[in-house]
Amino acid sequence: MNEKKFLLSDKQIPSAWYNVVADMPNRPAPLLDPKSHQPVTVDDLSHIFARSIAEQELSTERFIEIPDRVRELYRLWRCTPLVRAYGLEKLLDTPAHIYFKNESTSPVGSHKPNTAIPQAYYNHIEGITHLTTETGGGQWGTALAHATNIFGQTAQIFMVRVSYNQKPYRKLLMNVWGGNVVPSPSELTEYGRSVLAEEPDCSGTLGMAISEAVELAIKNPETTRYCLGSVMNHVVLHQTIIGEEAVLQMEMAGEMPDVVIGCFGGGSNFAGLGFPFLRKNLTEGAKMRIVAVEPASCPKLTRGKLCYDFGDSAGITPLVPMYTLGHTFHPADIHAGGLRYHGAGSTVSQLLKDGLIEAQSVDQLETFAAALAFARTEGIVPAPESAHAIAVAVREALQAKEEGVQKTILFNLSGHGMVDMYSYDQYLSGALGDSSLSAEEIARSIEASQKRVGLL
Ligand SMILES: Cc1ncc(COP(=O)(O)O)c(C=O)c1O
Repeated sequence: MNEKKFLLSDKQIPSAWYNVVADMPNRPAPLLDPKSHQPVTVDDLSHIFARSIAEQELSTERFIEIPDRVRELYRLWRCTPLVRAYGLEKLLDTPAHIYFKNESTSPVGSHKPNTAIPQAYYNHIEGITHLTTETGGGQWGTALAHATNIFGQTAQIFMVRVSYNQKPYRKLLMNVWGGNVVPSPSELTEYGRSVLAEEPDCSGTLGMAISEAVELAIKNPETTRYCLGSVMNHVVLHQTIIGEEAVLQMEMAGEMPDVVIGCFGGGSNFAGLGFPFLRKNLTEGAKMRIVAVEPASCPKLTRGKLCYDFGDSAGITPLVPMYTLGHTFHPADIHAGGLRYHGAGSTVSQLLKDGLIEAQSVDQLETFAAALAFARTEGIVPAPESAHAIAVAVREALQAKEEGVQKTILFNLSGHGMVDMYSYDQYLSGALGDSSLSAEEIARSIEASQKRVGLL
């Protein structure tokens, strides 16, 4: 019998995170202060984030050591398994070998604790007792609640209203770990109140929830900092633990992937898996394709513009050089709530511009069809976000079959969907559809946002 799972021991938990910036032929343009338009410094970022995190954000060192306490906590669920999807291969009748890295085995069911734990840790050692954040699908908020509970901190979580209504059990999970959760836009902040005054039924966006969380942190500088679950370099950095393990596990399997696939919200699980493989392209002459998959209803990588934009809707965060749909873009209320974000991180954006990674988009119905195929063959119900990666793995496997070529495919199962059953109910009852987005809508949103950015 061939091996299905490739497992590493606790002792093999990587000792360093990988910072791709060190190996990029063209480094991303700097983050800019929103008012002065000057490059931000560690001091500037320290008003929002813990200082160690601000330092990591701007670091160009290739490897950053993982603190012992964080490695010890990673043992709660790491190393995660690498699994060969024999069942899916058989269903598709493909010559391709399909592997997935199973990040759904963490306490909260996704990759998000890989960064929640170090973020809570660094804040804790710097004496910060309150953390604020946003959450889309609810996975990130759950992860931060879990992490803050470990370090005796409190977490104030702004959950995008549409997800708050769709996923009551996510909110309860956050409550189990002591997190305070409010639907965003909320009455807790000036920004939230201003949105609700104009649009009382607003379903919210990640950008709005970020504005609320940053506002609260900035107002309480003695005790409080903001944490982000995606987009920024330090988040991507922490997530590279996924790819560092996966490189070792693919070696155990005796092959390297031809294509590495991750779904894409702000870029952290995609980059977390992909960047350690990309290092082999950049430094060892390997030629693996690294593919990001986004929803067709929120297509910043495939249809957005690379320019400076705000990370939030209110325009409080630093300006990030990113592929964006405009920070005021309001995506359709799709069920992959964690992918409803208007922009991409700066490293991913630069790498895409330079043709070193690729991007594809997938419609909602294709993702759920792939999710069911995976659940029925591999026995794991994937998160709707992760199903985007599965959909492109399926596309690649079917293409290999059509061309009659062997191909090795690796995708990230960023999370399970056991708390997302409402979306499966909607799909199985035929209530879900695809949503289309015209070129004019995208252009209008980008133009309006660029006027607010003020760099034109
Ligand atoms: C399971 C899952 N996958 C993917 C994402 C997208 O985030 P990122 O692009 O940062 O990995 C999310 C975000 O909430 C998520 O919950």
